[in-house]
Amino acid sequence: MTARHTGRVVLITGAAHGIGAATAAAVVREGGSVVLGDLDVPAAQTRAGELGERALALPLDVAVAASWDACVAAALNRFGRIDGLVNNAGIATGHNLVETDADEMVRVLTVNTIGPFLGIKAVLGTMRAGGHGSIVNISSCAGLGGLRSNVAYSTSKYAIRGLTQTLVHELGGYGIRVNSVFPGYVDTPLSRPDWVEQSEAGQQPANVALGRTGHPRELAEVISFLLSEEASYCTGSEFVADGGLMSVVPPRDL
Ligand SMILES: NC(=O)c1ccc[n+]([C@@H]2O[C@H](COP(=O)([O-])OP(=O)(O)OC[C@H]3O[C@@H](n4cnc5c(N)ncnc54)[C@H](O)[C@@H]3O)[C@@H](O)[C@H]2O)c1
Repeated sequence: MTARHTGRVVLITGAAHGIGAATAAAVVREGGSVVLGDLDVPAAQTRAGELGERALALPLDVAVAASWDACVAAALNRFGRIDGLVNNAGIATGHNLVETDADEMVRVLTVNTIGPFLGIKAVLGTMRAGGHGSIVNISSCAGLGGLRSNVAYSTSKYAIRGLTQTLVHELGGYGIRVNSVFPGYVDTPLSRPDWVEQSEAGQQPANVALGRTGHPRELAEVISFLLSEEASYCTGSEFVADGGLMSVVPPRDL
């Protein structure tokens, strides 16, 4: 049986760490080639080295249009095609309204929302020429409900949802699918500053029905599915992978 990503090329942003790195590994495991675009070039190169010849690390600042152009050109130069884009790179600052100034708001929105917008524009030409494509935008449960003390982050993740839905019809005619994924608490450097890699997710946050944080690999499998032809009729879909977080109404604090 042919692996589901054989012959395909996927560009993944923020692939040096966390969910992006796990997604790169999943795509390569299923026969595809990956471009790992990240600000952290040494870490992206280390990941690419672990994945072998079908992985290429490239410098990418998702907030800068010229950086996207250079990254896409280098990816096409190496692989000749881009079939999938995972807009995964993201930052969180963890501040409430009073603590957040306008500069911080602009910075978070620029990376988390403008970044994916620029990325989709950058790959559009080659995807249109190829007559197909799969774009996966990584939002967050903070894009489904307001995340306390994360005003900039939550705003940026709600916007990703809107960006995705807006493009479904515009890009559907070109055979390009656009979906979004909403992770809950996933054990990565972003969710935990004191993060160390571990084989299984360790924390036990309150309100998660499954009683544990997610492992990046568990998100990677959802993203890998959306990238693949197995999801050929999925566009505009919103995939929540949160261990039941959004299904739980916290008890009233009496
Ligand atoms: N970890 C969680 O609990 C969680 C929950 C919900 C949503 N998410 C989302 O999932 C995505 C991945 O998160 P993660 O937890 O794997 O984070 P992470 O911090 O482990 O990895 C993020 C990666 O993005 C890169 N990056 C940051 N700014 C960049 C930029 N301007 N250009 C290019 N690369 C940049 C970083 O270098 C890093 O490699 C993010 O969009 C995040 O908001 C994460």
